[in-house]
Amino acid sequence: MSIHKEVKKITTNTLQKMKQAGEKISMLTAYDFSFATIIDNAGIDVILVGDSASNVMAGHETTLPITLDQMIYHAQSVVRAINRCLVVVDLPFGTYQSNSDIALASAIRIMKETGAHAIKLEGGEEVIESVKRIVGAGIPVMGHLGLTPQSIYKFGTYNVRAKEAAEANKLKNDILLLEQAGCFAVVLEKIPAALAKEVSNSVQIPTIGIGAGKDCDGQVLVMHDMLGINTEFKPRFLRQYLNIAELATNAVQQYVQDIKSKGFPNEKESY
Ligand code: KIV
Repeated sequence: MSIHKEVKKITTNTLQKMKQAGEKISMLTAYDFSFATIIDNAGIDVILVGDSASNVMAGHETTLPITLDQMIYHAQSVVRAINRCLVVVDLPFGTYQSNSDIALASAIRIMKETGAHAIKLEGGEEVIESVKRIVGAGIPVMGHLGLTPQSIYKFGTYNVRAKEAAEANKLKNDILLLEQAGCFAVVLEKIPAALAKEVSNSVQIPTIGIGAGKDCDGQVLVMHDMLGINTEFKPRFLRQYLNIAELATNAVQQYVQDIKSKGFPNEKESY
């Protein structure tokens, strides 16, 4: 029997056991009560309340504008829905980079005001002090390396990261630092599959890949991309499991037609 089926509630320890047993970890983003209910009932291991909410919920071009208050609102909505999965919430841009006091205060607000189980932040060596302080306060931290979207204006593009030796070596060092600082898992975004395999084998904590190949200990996708709600974004790493945009468009067109043709509501739908 898989660990996933055995446990009633997924914790950071469960994820560690999954890595040790070679059982892959499933993670998906969610930002609201209704979808979080579906996703938790469907048996996902981890819900990430990602700062990708800035893109897919608010329509911003980048993840930079979303605020801590907005992330807290999304996380509260998700936490109200879940019974079983682990809920991780992104610390948004500007709420942890300046110093570790601010980082700790932001993480504490998320834990206190949302009931989520862990936070995620982007970066390696640059944020190590903050990771240590947050972990020291008893808050589980998930790291995020490779393509870190909060640094998009530094990178200039959303292309694959760490293809060159210098950046790959930094990433190899950063993941060790994050593990030593007490992170319980690390997201690896858009890096070569061979590098993801190497670093996944170099640490005891699970790695969760997005565009990082099959050898990560788990996989994550943005819900709006994998369910085909947002059909504009089609990177090579994305597997789209449904086309909600098409289904919803057809349904709304039918609804409009039914109203115009006076076919809705009918007698059974009236009092
Ligand atoms: O915000 C997000 O959705 C993320 C995932 C892409 C890992 O950080």
